[in-house]
Amino acid sequence: MKIADNFSRLGTENAFIILAKAKKLENEGREIINLGIGQPDFLTPKHIVEACKKALDEGHHGYTPANGTLELREGVVRHIKKMYQADISPERVFIAPGGKPSIFFAIMMFGQPNVEIIYPEPGFPIYESVINYTGAKAIPMFLSEKKNFSFDADEVLSLINKKTKLLIINNPQNPTGGLIERSEIDKLVNGLKNFPDLTIFSDEIYSRQIYDGKKMPSFFHYPELYDRLIVMDGWSKTYAMTGWRLGWSVWPENLIDNVTRMAINSYSCVSAASQVAALAALDGPHDFLNEMMDKFTKRRSLIVDGLNSIPGIQCNNPGGAFYAFPNVSKTGLSGDSFADKCLFDAGVAVVPGTSFGRTCKDFVRFSFANSYENIEKALEKIKKIL
Ligand SMILES: Cc1ncc(COP(=O)(O)O)c(C=O)c1O
Repeated sequence: MKIADNFSRLGTENAFIILAKAKKLENEGREIINLGIGQPDFLTPKHIVEACKKALDEGHHGYTPANGTLELREGVVRHIKKMYQADISPERVFIAPGGKPSIFFAIMMFGQPNVEIIYPEPGFPIYESVINYTGAKAIPMFLSEKKNFSFDADEVLSLINKKTKLLIINNPQNPTGGLIERSEIDKLVNGLKNFPDLTIFSDEIYSRQIYDGKKMPSFFHYPELYDRLIVMDGWSKTYAMTGWRLGWSVWPENLIDNVTRMAINSYSCVSAASQVAALAALDGPHDFLNEMMDKFTKRRSLIVDGLNSIPGIQCNNPGGAFYAFPNVSKTGLSGDSFADKCLFDAGVAVVPGTSFGRTCKDFVRFSFANSYENIEKALEKIKKIL
């Protein structure tokens, strides 16, 4: 069977492959601590689950508009106003099954041969995968350990040329936990005035996981970009709803029909009852977010201090998300061998840096979306095998 050539260029997300390997070992009777997958280890808050049950009982069983129900899009508008004091019309809001479809659709919309798309490295692997799939040239924007995985605005601007059609930014960042500060984004936005044909895609899926009392440096703070800005966020990480498949994005007016057409051509719409639950999440109580962040903050100290206490490991303090991205090169192991050793010898699933870019061979991603006790145990096990 001969399938289309561009499939050979489509990558994947290794975290899912590691999850499958870990599950296999568990099924064989091994005890595995999973610090691989990036999803909160909490249950979705009860009032959200109840809203979904009620919606099903009340008959929300059919298709909805492909871009999402008006009620939910208006809920997203209120959320954006509350968070960033930004005024967005509900016509520009797009509801999708997760954050990922918005990434896929944006890259499909701009990517083609002879076009360049800039993406972060280390970065969420889906960006590079889909850029390559479209035949566009993937241009990495390197985030360095020395800058705590932030970027230098001038360096980013120097990558832009006439062929560059899309600039992808992810803040806070997967896999590094890096947080790009508002001042650096101000500089970037100022420089973007010189490139009026460039569209910006801001992946803000970790917008509510920011440490040390800092505020989310969202692209919604720059109305001057609104006619060429796509912002993606969602419910997965904020409300512990990864398995519900719910995300939202805001698009320039002239792109919203195109992205809606992508939905109609693929999945039609998001499950109706899930959309009711999504609205309950936005409009309901948010105290559990503080509880979740208290836990993440304690785990962050535990994992960063724990990793730094192991000879040969150097770990920066992440400013956001729930990932630590230590450099393990001084242990004498590559990130790949380190991750294999962790899984097979210590029973701890982690993701090697090479899953996030070719240049990340010295690194390993630890997700601290697991209990304090499990992280403590995992650190002990890793110390022992090293
Ligand atoms: C940076 C980034 N963007 C997007 C996503 C996808 O989110 P969702 O599960 O809502 O599709 C993830 C998930 O890990 C992520 O880390």
